[in-house]
Amino acid sequence: MSSQHNPEETLPSEQAAARGTVAQADDPFADPGLPAHKPRIQDIDERAAKRSERVVAFLFVLSMLATVAFIASFVAFPVDKSVFIWPIGHISILHFSLGVTLGLALFCIGAGAVHWARTLMSDVETADDRHPIEAAPEVKAKVLEDFAQGAAESGFGRRKLIRNTMFGALALVPLSGVVLLRDLGPLPEKKLRTTLWAKGKQLINMNTHQPLRPEDVAVGSLTFAMPEGLSEHDEDFQKEIAKAALMIVRIQPNEIKDPRELDWSHQGIVAFSKICTHVGCPISLYEQQTHHVLCPCHQSTFDLSDGARVIFGPAGHALPQLRIGVNAEGNLEALGDFEEPVGPAFWERG
Ligand code: FES
Repeated sequence: MSSQHNPEETLPSEQAAARGTVAQADDPFADPGLPAHKPRIQDIDERAAKRSERVVAFLFVLSMLATVAFIASFVAFPVDKSVFIWPIGHISILHFSLGVTLGLALFCIGAGAVHWARTLMSDVETADDRHPIEAAPEVKAKVLEDFAQGAAESGFGRRKLIRNTMFGALALVPLSGVVLLRDLGPLPEKKLRTTLWAKGKQLINMNTHQPLRPEDVAVGSLTFAMPEGLSEHDEDFQKEIAKAALMIVRIQPNEIKDPRELDWSHQGIVAFSKICTHVGCPISLYEQQTHHVLCPCHQSTFDLSDGARVIFGPAGHALPQLRIGVNAEGNLEALGDFEEPVGPAFWERG
């Protein structure tokens, strides 16, 4: 039989004894306790601690540089330029550089934090007894005390180089996300507030493509119109018609309840945006007896004899009205643009 010692067969009490911790000789299953604390080189040598501090600061600074490189890549590289990178193959240089720089920025923050914790923060092992769930006042006080002690031991206040570079790295990293917002496209500027309608633009019947005349609009009929100069063959036709499409109806002037609507009409002919103010469906159902128009999408209903106010459904605003008149040739024309943004509520019309 071999007398060779197998460590796995060592009893806990023997392990504890080997580590110099206390265990009951008559109880081999006693808690062996924590091993004796061994100070790290950084704990006893201030030069080693300074070296670690510089490594941590270097990682945070590297993260800052990577974030700046991320932003520079976003601005400098076109999305369609590709390069060959082994072993990936051909890849967009923009995507590659964004991935590498953002990855490096995040990795350096993580690596810096880990190195800081492993080399400079206190690593003294402590054991705490299990407590009841509810926190007694003295427990809360102890937590605050421990927190303050932990903050002091981490050197957060003392090691200003680490603290400041970490703040710098953490402050710069979110810029990557802000820069990516540019991919949402150019700002809309005034495009959501203006349409092709302007003073003097004739109303063109969308079916006949001829200028609309007052005598073309019979009481009880619903006619759709678009601005003069817009053609279905235009590249941006869909974009423009989505804002400029009009519903034209004729109402007996004495049935128009809203004074402004009457003032903006021509002999009872009123022009309202065809775009529902809920989520922008085109409205097309007109009930001539009540002068109600119904949006087929979610049944918002507007009263065209009362300023196109909402009388039912989820739409939050009345349909914008276009002020119209008649030009020297006897055709209906706009007297300006809409005074409110058309379509989906434009989010409270700020
Ligand atoms: S889009 Fe018209 S009711 Fe929803």
